[in-house]
Formats: sequence, C-alpha cells, structure tokens
Amino acid sequence: MKFPRDFLWGAATAAYQVEGGNDRSDWWRWEKEAGKENSGFACRHYDLYELDFELARGLGHNAHRLSVEWSRIEPEEGKFSDVALKHYVDVILALRARNIEPVVTLHHFTNPVWLADCGGWENKKSVAAFLRYSEFVVRALAKHVRYWITINEPTIYATHAYLFGVWPPQMKVFSRAKRVERHMISAHIKAYRLIHKIYKEYALFKPAVSISQHMMALVPCDQKLKNRFAAWLRHKLYNENYLDIFMRHKALDFIGLNYYSRQLVELKRWGFKNLFEDICEKEHHPVKKNSLGWDIYPEGLYQLLLKLKKYKLPIMITENGICTSEDAQRWDYIASHLRNIHRAIEQGVPVTGYLYWSLLDNFEWDKGFGPRFGLIDIDYKTQQRTVRESAVKFSQVCKMGILSS
Ligand code: FCB
Repeated sequence: MKFPRDFLWGAATAAYQVEGGNDRSDWWRWEKEAGKENSGFACRHYDLYELDFELARGLGHNAHRLSVEWSRIEPEEGKFSDVALKHYVDVILALRARNIEPVVTLHHFTNPVWLADCGGWENKKSVAAFLRYSEFVVRALAKHVRYWITINEPTIYATHAYLFGVWPPQMKVFSRAKRVERHMISAHIKAYRLIHKIYKEYALFKPAVSISQHMMALVPCDQKLKNRFAAWLRHKLYNENYLDIFMRHKALDFIGLNYYSRQLVELKRWGFKNLFEDICEKEHHPVKKNSLGWDIYPEGLYQLLLKLKKYKLPIMITENGICTSEDAQRWDYIASHLRNIHRAIEQGVPVTGYLYWSLLDNFEWDKGFGPRFGLIDIDYKTQQRTVRESAVKFSQVCKMGILSS
C-alpha cells in the first residue's frame, strides 16, 4: 500500500505530558489537591528534547506534533517569559535541523494558574488572554512553522473539566460546559484570523491552521431506529459540530483528527438524556481493547474519513494510538489503522499525514503514568529511553511510504 508522496509521518506529544516541572499550570496544582499521581519530572523532555528528536529522526519521522505550555510563556498574567519563548524557538529549530516538520499546538488542556483563578475558560476574558498569548508565540515561531493547532480536543476539554467533573476545575454543570465551548469556539476563530494576519504581515508562506478534533466512531449496536438516530445525532454534535461552525466562519485550512476508539450506541428508551448518553452494555460485538478498556476499531477511522470527505479539506491524523503492555498489539493497531487510512485515500479522501500518539510513554492526565502509549518506552526512574519493536516496524513505513499488507 503506497501512501502519497509528501505524506507527513511522525508522532505527537503535549507539553504537560512530557516536559516535566510545569509548576505554573492549573494541572500541577490540581493533581496535588485531588490526590492524583503527580506529573513531576514526566519524561524530562523539556531538557531532553534533542535526544528525543534524534530518536524520532532515526525512526524516519518527517513530522512531529508538540504543544507550547502557556503557563511557561505567561507565568503571571501579562508577564511574558522571553526565556520560555526562546526555549520553544530552540525546540522548533531542533526539529527543523533534523528535517522534521513541526505541528504546533497552542492549547493542549492546561492553563496558567492565574487564568484558572479567574474562572478559566468560563470567563469571557479567556478569549482575549488566549489571543494575546498566541500572538506572542506565533510572532516568534512563524518563520519556522507552517502547521498550527489552536486548541486540542475542545469537546473533550469542556466535557471532562466542566461536565463529567474528572479534570480541573471538576465542574458538573451543563451550562458551564456550554459556556466554555462558546469561548473556545470564539478563541479558535479569532486565533485563526490572527495567525493568517501575522503571516501576511511578515510576507511569509500561507500557514495551515486547524484544531485537533477528537472523534469516536459512533456505531448503532443494531438496526433499530432509535439507535441509528442517536448515533447520527451524536456524530453531528460530538464529531462535526465544531467543524461546521468553523467552516461557516472560513476558519479551517485542514482538519486535524484525533481518533482512538468507537462507542456502541444503544438507547434503553427514547428520552432526552438517553439520546446523548446510553451505550450498549452487552458484549455482543466484542473487539479487542487497549489497557484502559477502549474498544479497538480500525474500520471506524475509515468510516469517519469518508464522512469528512464532504468538507473538501486536507485531513491530518493528529493523534491515533494505543496504550498496551504488549508491544505486538501496538504494531497491529498502527498497521490496521494505516490500512484503513489507505482505503480512504483510495476513495479520494485527502489524508495528508499520520501522527502516532505518542512518541514517548507519558503522563496520561488523571490516569497518571500507568498507560503506555509510546513508540519509545520510558523508564521513569532513570529516564532511559528504549525504542520499541513497534516503533521500528512503523519506521519502515515512515521511511518508504509503503505499508506491506
Ligand atoms: C487524547 C489527548 C492526548 C492523550 C490521548 C491518549 O484525547 O489529546 O493528550 O491523552 O488522548
């Protein structure tokens, strides 16, 4: 299976999950208050990024997604750190020096403590604050960066932090989650315009700006009308809603897609809440699972990609991956998802890249360091990196652009 010539191959990380020592972030405070596993030094990637990029280069990666930590750039409201900014310039240059295309995320779940203290994304002020921070970062990195992700998985952020109450600030109020969504939507649209404006002003090439949208394959567990309807509705609301809004505002240059798993939809009865929440609890469509219990469902990626064709935009897989203690399962996961991406490309879906989650084992938010998503194993005691067998197999695809079936 041959992939397009300029296909981007690589892996993704997020600052808070790998850097270590992000003590100005709301997560840092929360993990202690909530008695969760602490992120601590994480993978010490803040210091060891050159080593990690050298490994990525050796593995044939020609792209890498990372995020900038807002709380380092602006540790106090309105006070920007040139030292932190320089660090990220160095990081990007370290990628460029290895011919690795950076894909830079501006917001990946974490906020500076000062923002959290004035209501975080519930406060309308978050939009202006995010823009000011983005401007500072984009102006410094513009010359070296083409791909920008403004916000990672806004649906996941709003629901986990404001509706399910499992992430800081642990709210469980629908209207609050909606408010956060509204602000994130506005922040993306404005940041999109800002980034384009800066590139124009600097007479640079055209940037490519998007969000990373988390999508599940929403599969009705049988042919009953209520289940098919609920699956359709959830797809519209959870998967496509943001894209539709951004398309209307002409604020998307490509689609960043994060795909992991499926949800089997089965309504207990017709009802408002049931429409959004009920899932099938029978085990009548069994599939393998990752170590967090998420269903592994590669054909779901194919189905989603076909659905996204109507947007007529390039699609970059900005995350796809598995946590497992059996590395052989990781290679199966990657290969089966790549096969489904290839099928979609053959159907005319313009997929332009695949970034595996994650380059390194890392801090999986409220789940701590248990889940192992990495192409590279981290020994957290010694910070020793060990390239996994799956990474080597994936590297052949990256180097050749061909997956042998
Ligand atoms: C995604 C997140 C990423 C990581 C993976 C497993 O939802 O964007 O940070 O936690 O899940």
